Amino acid sequence: MSERLDKQVALGTALSRKEATALIRRGAVTVDGEAVRDPARKVEKTAAITVNGQAVICRRHLYILLNKPAGVLCVSHDDREQTVVDLVPDMWRRDKLFPAGRLDRDTTGMVILTDDGDFAHRMLAPGKHVPKRYRATLSGEPTAETVALFASGMTIDGGDVCLPAELEYDGCEATLTLHEGKFHQVKRMFEAAGLRVQTLHRLSMGGLCLDPTLAPGECRLITEREILSVFDPSFWQ
Ligand code: URA
Repeated sequence: MSERLDKQVALGTALSRKEATALIRRGAVTVDGEAVRDPARKVEKTAAITVNGQAVICRRHLYILLNKPAGVLCVSHDDREQTVVDLVPDMWRRDKLFPAGRLDRDTTGMVILTDDGDFAHRMLAPGKHVPKRYRATLSGEPTAETVALFASGMTIDGGDVCLPAELEYDGCEATLTLHEGKFHQVKRMFEAAGLRVQTLHRLSMGGLCLDPTLAPGECRLITEREILSVFDPSFWQ
C-alpha cells in the first residue's frame, strides 16, 4: 500500500499537511535514505521516512522508549512541573500520549510512552504478569531470607499480597523482577523487609530493555519487533 508523502509525514509528526509539504520541498525529508522533494510522491507505507534526520513512524499509534531522568513527573501533563511527555521531541508529540506504567518522580530509567490504550492495558493488566526489572541501591544488604521473603509472595502494609518476585543482590545493590505494578511497590517491599530504597532504576519491561545509548532525558521510537518482545514470553529472560 502506498500513500502520498506529505500525508504520511503529517500523520507521523505533529505537523499540518502544509507544514509537511514545506519541509519536504526544503529537502528535510528522506525516504529509504534518499531526499525526496515531491510532496505528492507515492511512498510505500513500509518505507523508512526521516524528517530532519529523525525517523518518523507513519502508523496509527506511536511507541516511544524513554530514559527517564530523576525529578521528572511520569504523567501526561502538569501545569507546573516537567513531565515525561515534555521530553518527547515535537515531531513525535501526539494528543493522548501517556506513559504506560508510572515511575516515581525520583525513579530513573525505562518508560514506554504511547497513545495506544490497548497496548498499555495488555502490559499493565493484573493477569498479564509482564515482568518489570528494577535495579535498586539499598540502605543495607539483603540476605537469603530477604530473597525467600520476596519469592514467597509477601504481604505489605498489613494486607496487600504481592505476587512472588525474584531478588538478586550484590552487597547493597539489588535487582528485583516484579510481575505486577502496585503503587510504590519496590519501595514498599524493601521497606517491609527493613531496607530503604536509595536509588531506583527500571531496566526492562517484558523482553524490552532500556537502550544503553539513550542518555537520561533521551528517547527513540520502538520497533515492531521490540513491541512484540514486551508481551511474548519467549523474549523474556
Ligand atoms: N516501585 C516503586 O516503588 N517506585 C517506582 O517508581 C516503580 C516501582
